Amino acid sequence: MALKEYTWHFVAESIESLGFGNYDMVQAEVSDKTICIAKFNDKLYAFQSLCPHAGAKMVMGYIDMQGNAVCPLHRFKFSLKNGYNVTGEGYNMKTYPIEIRNGEIFVGF
Ligand code: FES
Repeated sequence: MALKEYTWHFVAESIESLGFGNYDMVQAEVSDKTICIAKFNDKLYAFQSLCPHAGAKMVMGYIDMQGNAVCPLHRFKFSLKNGYNVTGEGYNMKTYPIEIRNGEIFVGF
């Protein structure tokens, strides 16, 4: 199986400049996309900004104790690691690789 090749995009100068404040998730504009970035157990995760079920803004939801993004509208849950719909409704979320390089944040599409 061929590995996917990513184009890496600069997101922010630092984790602090992503602007989490007291929140678990933020939105960021990267290239021509709006993405959602979550912080969980000191790691960052990137994924689609709109819920794959009916398009609610994931940033309005929350992260549960198991590391799932919970949609604010119907509460479907998605693994931060791979976007898998852990509550079984069959709508998987698109995730993106995210890296910290010399303190700067990059995401791959
Ligand atoms: S819009 Fe997200 S679960 Fe329905």
